[in-house]
Amino acid sequence: MTERTTPADITRTVVASFDGCTDERLRELAQAFVRHLHAFAVEVGLTEAEWAEGIAILTATGHITDERRQEFILWSDSLGLSMLVDAIANPLPAGATESTVLGPFYVPGAPLRAYGASIAAEPAGTPAWVYGRVLGVDGEPLADAELDVWQNGDNRLYAMQDPTAPEEHLRGRFHTRADGSYGFVAVRPVPYTIPDDGPVGRMLDATGRHPWRPAHIHMIVRAPGHRTLATHVFDASSEYLDADAVFAVKPSLLRTFVERAADDPERPAGIEGDWCSVENDIVLTPGDDPGLPPDPGRSA
Ligand code: BEZ
Ligand code: FE
Repeated sequence: MTERTTPADITRTVVASFDGCTDERLRELAQAFVRHLHAFAVEVGLTEAEWAEGIAILTATGHITDERRQEFILWSDSLGLSMLVDAIANPLPAGATESTVLGPFYVPGAPLRAYGASIAAEPAGTPAWVYGRVLGVDGEPLADAELDVWQNGDNRLYAMQDPTAPEEHLRGRFHTRADGSYGFVAVRPVPYTIPDDGPVGRMLDATGRHPWRPAHIHMIVRAPGHRTLATHVFDASSEYLDADAVFAVKPSLLRTFVERAADDPERPAGIEGDWCSVENDIVLTPGDDPGLPPDPGRSA
């Protein structure tokens, strides 16, 4: 009698179909992907109905994705894969600032703004003076480093999600001064939900998870001769620090937002009423760019 074809036979045949791939890395990726994908199906005893549902989810993910909505990145973020890839790609020397998730709301080409300027084109919450220095790992100040900053406002939205907001609202690029210092006016960030009206939201709902992220400000920091860093400044008093929907909180990135009164003598020009301040030094790792989005306005 002829032997039956087993699940292991199927996996072996598919893996072997890539044996002739002459790009060694591509062959490694393809074969490992098939092995793990098949092992997953075998481990859970994947049914035909479940896999049909899986294909429907992938299809819906493609349909909802466009230039403003990136549901594939949301899957990567909400399954912790973005943070895992980041951790693999960015081993750090002692003292260097940790990276975290880029997220789907970064838009290259933010306006270059002067020291002390505000990133808010319209009122969007309590003004926050964000300041500090950009340094190398030996403590040397990095002059002319670039901070590319974006955040949400008190309506919880990033400018790219908000059709009523000016395009340049709550985003800007700043260069450090000769002593490595920077300072700009932001707003105190608030917790917000990742977009949850698509397939990722349905997964969160079905599995009893929530879509909230703790309050944070995003930064990409670039300086010649250093690895580009995508990171956050987290409000150390925010809700959801221990339950971030995208697993992006690192304790070293928590900062205290100090509440200040309107008559505080240190109130920076351009701020009115009560405000807050947050100090955030950034230490960059020497080396090359790890492949983060470059800023079109700067070659580095
Ligand atoms: C964000 O922080 O902008 C973000 C990160 C991951 C998913 C959604 C939003
Ligand atoms: Fe964010």
